[in-house]
Amino acid sequence: MSSPRILLTGATGFLGGTVAAQLLDQKRWAQVLLLVRAPSPAEAHARLVKSLQRFEVGEKLLKKISPAQIISGGLDALPTVAEDPRLATVTHVVNCAAVTSFGQNPNTWPTNVVQTAAFARKVAEFPRLERFIHVSTAMICGATPPHVVQEDTYPAEGVRHLVGYTGSKAAAETLLRKELAGKPLVIVRPSIIVGHTRLGCKPSGSIFWGFRMADALRRVTCDLDAIVDVIPVDYAATALLHVLDATRLEHPTYHISAGRDYSSSFRQIGRAFARALGEKRATDYRRVTYQDVAALQDQFMELFGPGNKRSMLAAARLYGTFAGLNTVFDNHRLLATGVAPPPPFADYLGVCVETSRDIPIARQMMVDFE
Ligand SMILES: NC(=O)c1ccc[n+]([C@@H]2O[C@H](COP(=O)([O-])OP(=O)(O)OC[C@H]3O[C@@H](n4cnc5c(N)ncnc54)[C@H](OP(=O)(O)O)[C@@H]3O)[C@@H](O)[C@H]2O)c1
Repeated sequence: MSSPRILLTGATGFLGGTVAAQLLDQKRWAQVLLLVRAPSPAEAHARLVKSLQRFEVGEKLLKKISPAQIISGGLDALPTVAEDPRLATVTHVVNCAAVTSFGQNPNTWPTNVVQTAAFARKVAEFPRLERFIHVSTAMICGATPPHVVQEDTYPAEGVRHLVGYTGSKAAAETLLRKELAGKPLVIVRPSIIVGHTRLGCKPSGSIFWGFRMADALRRVTCDLDAIVDVIPVDYAATALLHVLDATRLEHPTYHISAGRDYSSSFRQIGRAFARALGEKRATDYRRVTYQDVAALQDQFMELFGPGNKRSMLAAARLYGTFAGLNTVFDNHRLLATGVAPPPPFADYLGVCVETSRDIPIARQMMVDFE
């Protein structure tokens, strides 16, 4: 490999994998170094190659991945500059690694806060560091955000988090800003990432199952004209790489989001489902209460596929709360860097439906609770 310039973490994941797949198709791939969990670089290489197949990366491109480009280990295992000479030439770092489960995963805080801070401290020692992109989440806004969230409003004290994951991401931001003061740290906050514009849910069905649940029920627990800020993963990766490469950035933090102009309402989402499924529906979704949804529990297996009724109800409640916040994340900063706006969710939802056809909703849901 040539002298590494980019260090990428989380490449076996949904967003990091999409970033890796895009970089693989670029001339600079030989300058990319990856941190991948496994006992050895050979095993990490095998994990990465297998994982990237879900992005339909061709064999020719997959062959470009060399074990010499891989540091095997987790965020806490990043060797010091002195220990691994490959890190001495790295100028740009993209940290996509995190525990993203909405369940009660005991690794959430240790990974997203403790290990992330240790990793960042090491990165701060890189002699040629020019930009360190840490991927956070727009959902650090917690349970009661305003209708339009601006980047500088969060992280804020006293925010009530719906899940431990978003609390950990908020804490990591605060810690990184403090510990890396004066370093070229840029935080990007994607909104809700669902599907891929070309591959639909093939790389991951994360969160899409929640929309499928609402559609199967023909019911939502929020206003039909409430909008939800969803972006496809390929857009998130392209925007992230654009921020990585921008010669000059005006701001330390950027939403990667649909914003007010490119978010879809539940009415539009319901109609897009109907089109994709080839159904003529006389009415839009009904707005109901959570209790109304709970009263339909006995139909869950039939509608969502085999699974635990109570888990499905709990998942529907949690994701329904997120989706129904009627909040969007302002994206003017991002668009001002020259990134094109994202396609609205309702416009690419059909490909997500198509690629989810053979997967029961209850099974697709599992990815977000591992
Ligand atoms: N997906 C979304 O809707 C969304 C929205 C906003 C923000 N984000 C942010 O985007 C980033 C990526 O999310 P994602 O959806 O791609 O998550 P994901 O699919 O769950 O992938 C997580 C990645 O992090 C790695 N990882 C986990 N713990 C690690 C550790 N201790 N050391 C090193 N690597 C570790 C995983 O590696 P293994 O394969 O070894 O487990 C995997 O590659 C996260 O920071 C997340 O907060 C995601």
